[in-house]
Amino acid sequence: MDFKPSSRTKKLNKTSRLIQNAKRCKDIFNEPGFKNCSVLQLQHSSKHNSTHFNADPQRIELKLSYSHSLPEPVLKWALELTRSNVAEFYNTCRGWNYAESEQLQDGPKSEKKENYSDFVKRNELCAAGARFILVYPQTTHSHTIHTSDGNPNPVTYIHLRFVNSHRQPVLYVYDIQIEPFFQRRGMGAKLMWLVMRIGWYFGMSKCMLTSFKENTAAQRLYKDKLGFVLDEISPDLHKEDDEEYGYEILSITRKQSVAMMDTYSCLNY
Ligand SMILES: CC(C)(COP(=O)(O)OP(=O)(O)OC[C@H]1O[C@@H](n2cnc3c(N)ncnc32)[C@H](O)[C@@H]1OP(=O)(O)O)[C@@H](O)C(=O)NCCC(=O)NCCS
Repeated sequence: MDFKPSSRTKKLNKTSRLIQNAKRCKDIFNEPGFKNCSVLQLQHSSKHNSTHFNADPQRIELKLSYSHSLPEPVLKWALELTRSNVAEFYNTCRGWNYAESEQLQDGPKSEKKENYSDFVKRNELCAAGARFILVYPQTTHSHTIHTSDGNPNPVTYIHLRFVNSHRQPVLYVYDIQIEPFFQRRGMGAKLMWLVMRIGWYFGMSKCMLTSFKENTAAQRLYKDKLGFVLDEISPDLHKEDDEEYGYEILSITRKQSVAMMDTYSCLNY
């Protein structure tokens, strides 16, 4: 019997192919499409006691890492940074169910008191599908923190996953965490443009993320600066009572992002 795949099956096959291909890519920053990407020359210089990311070339290095190749000291640094940056948002967020997740039920009892959990976050960061962009300062400066093995810590990490969301290939940004000293200097916006570029390069339909409504910096960055909008699966669009959720799911398509990039004249990010 002649088997002809339905259009739904074809779409699913294409989606999984795109996702598998994207997940495999270890060396994205050396791919031809990325060689001239200006954000890869993200730069750090000290001027009047502040840091600028648009001068003094090649002092910040970006690395792409798989979860299994994250060194333990970097994982520990990432967990500490995430806790100090955002645990409060997890703990006060209405509707967030970290504490009820299966992983946490099995976790250490002492962690059940608060919603945010290092145990759950560690599991997330170590998941097979997790990919990371790590930003390292290439020169030591007063804010460089060294790990126990003597290597400098990154100053930022982005945790990404290529996933199938409602049969569409999507680049999901799980975390972007910047060391406090390096925040509000343009790094977050530039890295997010880069993330989108990675998504479009691999044929993803959209970039998505979850954002706490109380996190003003993140909300402004995603919505005002980058043009993310409420995704159709965001929980407030599907609630059955008046209770508002404390988080929303935002997304951006290639078309929407190109329109925003035009506005900021940063097409070559
Ligand atoms: C949120 C975060 C990623 C933003 O990155 P950043 O490098 O600090 O932000 P940028 O300097 O690129 O700023 C880009 C835009 O974001 C908004 N923004 C950033 N920080 C802000 C703040 N503290 N207050 C208000 N708006 C802010 C502004 O709109 C800004 O544009 P502008 O400079 O033209 O006003 C970073 O501050 C961070 O890591 N915070 C802690 C962790 C976190 O909240 N992560 C997000 C959720 S996982």
